[in-house]
Amino acid sequence: MIICPVCKEELVKEGKSYRCKNNHCFDMGKQGYTNLLLSNQKHSKMPGDDKDMVMSRREFLEKGYYQKISQGVNDIVKETCNSKDLDILDIGCGEGYYTKRLKDFLECENIKSHIIGIDISKEAVIAAARSDKRIDWIVASATNIPVSESSLDYVICMFAKIIPEEKMRTLKSGGYLIVVSTGEKHLIELKEVVYDKVRTEFYSPVKDLEMFEHIKTVNCTDSVFIDNNRSIKNLFDMTPYRWRSPKEGIEKLYALDSLKITVDVNIDIFRKP
Ligand SMILES: C[S@@+](CC[C@H](N)C(=O)[O-])C[C@H]1O[C@@H](n2cnc3c(N)ncnc32)[C@H](O)[C@@H]1O
Repeated sequence: MIICPVCKEELVKEGKSYRCKNNHCFDMGKQGYTNLLLSNQKHSKMPGDDKDMVMSRREFLEKGYYQKISQGVNDIVKETCNSKDLDILDIGCGEGYYTKRLKDFLECENIKSHIIGIDISKEAVIAAARSDKRIDWIVASATNIPVSESSLDYVICMFAKIIPEEKMRTLKSGGYLIVVSTGEKHLIELKEVVYDKVRTEFYSPVKDLEMFEHIKTVNCTDSVFIDNNRSIKNLFDMTPYRWRSPKEGIEKLYALDSLKITVDVNIDIFRKP
């Protein structure tokens, strides 16, 4: 299922490396991940989320504040699957919180799964690989997925880039694409602290994924009380707001010791015809 990024032939695991029949060889890092991102696929020296963002996300998510989102995705996989042996790809998996929880959930449900997590950020993939050895963690880009055609039952894309063509190529006919994106009220209270004027428009992936059959949108809403300053900072630092917010707003937020937040995300379910 995993293919060579150079010649697209199947990659076979040989001890601590992957090799294709044309002898392209990719060694696994000591943490247990594989880097299949070619230098001509990089748009910068260290693409994707940096180490600080990865660590903030890990610390925040591990406190369970977004557990309901993870459960929402896991339930959808269980409800839609019609096999007891699933091939799943998590695109833009970050440090792997949702990927690992899906694996745990499927194991509890006695559903066998082979899960691949890919992310363009090496730091994110290293963090993921350090914490879970059951998943194939790969540094790769969503624009060039090192997975063979029509081989996946599920592609999951949570708060990450939508590149429709690659999802279409890698999914089996009848396979599901699950896209998680932020809704209108998501983190509204945090934005009210940071910005004078809060924008509430949100992105729906439905228009960009017209080549798939859209099954439905499931909204997942929760109200979460954060009772410590460190988690508030971690939440802010794991979002792109950290790059584009006014200094005074960030200082106001960083001074808080508690914050109630609204979690409002949409889980869109698509099927490949
Ligand atoms: C907002 S984070 C979401 C991470 C994870 N899905 C989660 O929800 O915790 C977006 C992730 O997409 C990754 N990313 C950005 N561009 C990418 C690309 N072209 N291919 C693969 N991953 C990408 C980033 O490095 C980052 O880890």
